[in-house]
Amino acid sequence: MPLSLVILAAGQGSRMNSDLPKVLHPLAGAPLLAHALRAGAVLEPERVVVVTGHGAERVARAAQDAEPGVLIAHQAEQLGTAHAVAQARAALEGFSGDVVVLYGDTPFVSPETLEALIAARSRHAVVVLGFEAVDPGRYGRLVMQGSALERIVEYKDASAQERSITLCNSGVVCADAALLTELVDAVGNDNASGEYYLTDIIALARARGLTAGVVTCPEPETLGINTRTELSAAEALFQSRARAEALENGVTLIAPETVFFALDTVIGRDALVGPNVVFGPGVTIESGAEIRAFCHLEGCHVSRDAVVGPFARLRPGAELAEGVRVGNFVEIKNAILDEGAKVNHLSYIGDAHVGEGANVGAGSVTVNYDGVMKHHTGIGERAFVGSGSMLVAPVKVGAGAMTAAGSVITADVPDGALALGRARQENKAGLALRLRERLLALKARKNED
Ligand code: UD1
Ligand code: CA
Repeated sequence: MPLSLVILAAGQGSRMNSDLPKVLHPLAGAPLLAHALRAGAVLEPERVVVVTGHGAERVARAAQDAEPGVLIAHQAEQLGTAHAVAQARAALEGFSGDVVVLYGDTPFVSPETLEALIAARSRHAVVVLGFEAVDPGRYGRLVMQGSALERIVEYKDASAQERSITLCNSGVVCADAALLTELVDAVGNDNASGEYYLTDIIALARARGLTAGVVTCPEPETLGINTRTELSAAEALFQSRARAEALENGVTLIAPETVFFALDTVIGRDALVGPNVVFGPGVTIESGAEIRAFCHLEGCHVSRDAVVGPFARLRPGAELAEGVRVGNFVEIKNAILDEGAKVNHLSYIGDAHVGEGANVGAGSVTVNYDGVMKHHTGIGERAFVGSGSMLVAPVKVGAGAMTAAGSVITADVPDGALALGRARQENKAGLALRLRERLLALKARKNED
């Protein structure tokens, strides 16, 4: 059965107290919305419709970044969840099959739960995802009759007796596309909030003689983010799961509670990660690589048996081939390091290509920026860049070439050549002793005054 997703993301999220639309707040390095899209992607949807409202342009851009090909529906005024779903009508035109509605602020719905939800559609016209709430608070309550769902009542509209129900609405719903469209169109706004409630489609379906069912999941999966406190709790939950998953996949984490992953971090088996390491978005670490303590990585690729850190920073576009060594206080950005290349101490390598087996000495810098434009540095295979070399880009150091320590290299160095780019040293015999005597005498005179 073909399936489409509708993701509601129009709300402002006023309780976040932020200029940023709620669904763009980052969780594990990716906007909340990207988590919802990823959760829904396991269903291999034919169409994905994101309903935008507050910050519509930014939200649409983030949606397309996370998943190219998503369709955008605009909800100009936030009149309620049913009204939001109704905005997806044009985007769903010509689609026949089931629709699953997800919320952009609910990042943890599991693949198993979504599979169970759509499987239950063979028994019911409408299926709702529910959960047993430890503290039901202001969630909508599921009013059951035996195993059938009769209706959903919102907290504000619920009687004291209904409020005592602990089976709650997650917001996730599945129904046939045509039926869903008809039902949301029939929803009114005569309730305590004056909103068009998506939850009212259950009573409307029942009134048509259709059946509604509930699939339940563990409460954490339905965790919706409304405040910064909830966002930080969600981050903690994400990280504890990601750590457990990494350990299970054969990654050694010396101090798991100090390692932070992003939504899309990929780490191979037998990789070793030391304490206090942060993986930003877009990191792939291959098997057997070692990331030592206190490293910060984003948008980079570390191949087998490479060693990074301690205290290294890999920025977007850092590509480390097998056996590369990047040591302490080294920053790599937009640079390819070929097999066995070494940059071991206190260096900056940006917009560069470092050839196989090349060695970049301590404190060397690719001077890539002239204040206006960025320029490229090439370091040939097995080249030896002496400590403290400033490679003023655009510039090339040839294969097997050397630069003398402390050189400022402004012109290309041919293959196999030695470049000396510094003032020649002069020694003045005895001058240090005479200079010191003079300085001491000066100081003594000063103290007499
Ligand atoms: C909703 C449910 C409630 C459920 C709870 C679970 C309704 C009426 N109530 O309540 O039963 O227990 O979620 O978290 O559906 N949105 C729009 N446009 C709108 C209104 C909302 O896109 O006009 C989006 C919001 O951005 C949010 C989601 O829909 O992502 C849910 O809306 P929200 O106002 O948070 O609903 P709740 O009151 O939490
Ligand atoms: Ca909510």
